[in-house]
Amino acid sequence: MSIVLVTGGARGIGAAIASRHAAAGDSVLVADVDDAAGKQLVETLGLRAHYVHCDVTSEDDVRAGVVHAERHLGPLDVVYANAGAVGVTGRLEGTSLEDWRRTMDLLLTSVFLTVREAVAVMRPRGRGAIVCTASVAGVRGGLGPHAYTAAKHGVVGLVESVAVEVARYGLRINAVAPGGAVSSLTAGLMSGDVDDLQLAHDRLAASSASGVPTTAEDVADAAFFLGGAGSSRINGTCLVVDGADYVPSQKGLSYYS
Ligand SMILES: NC(=O)c1ccc[n+]([C@@H]2O[C@H](COP(=O)([O-])OP(=O)(O)OC[C@H]3O[C@@H](n4cnc5c(N)ncnc54)[C@H](O)[C@@H]3O)[C@@H](O)[C@H]2O)c1
Repeated sequence: MSIVLVTGGARGIGAAIASRHAAAGDSVLVADVDDAAGKQLVETLGLRAHYVHCDVTSEDDVRAGVVHAERHLGPLDVVYANAGAVGVTGRLEGTSLEDWRRTMDLLLTSVFLTVREAVAVMRPRGRGAIVCTASVAGVRGGLGPHAYTAAKHGVVGLVESVAVEVARYGLRINAVAPGGAVSSLTAGLMSGDVDDLQLAHDRLAASSASGVPTTAEDVADAAFFLGGAGSSRINGTCLVVDGADYVPSQKGLSYYS
């Protein structure tokens, strides 16, 4: 049985990760700013699931979230730095410094804070796994907004860099890189209604190479694998989870039979 912290665990991919661990009998702390969704989720996950309000852009909140997990659940085995949103969009000239910094705080500095606090408690024990949610926009430009792309590239770089430091202490850190996945984020982008998952499902299916959309559960399965013993020699990597959608976009091509 593992002790797990999931940031951004109230909805979407984070909620799927939390559910995956709860189903495995693990103790899970869901850390989020959406208190209503977070509390509602943990009620469905059983007695080992807990919720804490945690804004991942706040150093104090992130530290308090890790302390809360260690005090009330036990020594953390796996930490998922997953919380995020799209951030500032639009043309470069129209991007204000304030919006740029806010997006970096949400998508990159938050991951630094979460990873730092996780390493601080895991290093003395000589064990632990960290999984950060990047994006296909973190391994290739042109797939997302500028700031989002830069921040997610930063996440992938941070994962590689930290892996080299912490490997000798028995710690692992990896990233998952979803393509478009059915979640509140994509539903909100597509319809303005974060709960319209069916619309996101249908649109992502239509635009997918396979005709099948990537679900939050698909991404959670990959993240769960990276957080677990089955990936014990995988460290510093970034696993793309997109059903091959990224392959044609990487080459600027479609597949013609
Ligand atoms: N869904 C996709 O298509 C997709 C693709 C690539 C990467 N991602 C990444 O996956 C991660 C999860 O996204 P999702 O699709 O599940 O989105 P989502 O909107 O469904 O869930 C994100 C969760 O993060 C929480 N959150 C937002 N800001 C926060 C903050 N400051 N502090 C704490 N929690 C906060 C939200 O309340 C929400 O519960 C994000 O990092 C996102 O960039 C998603």
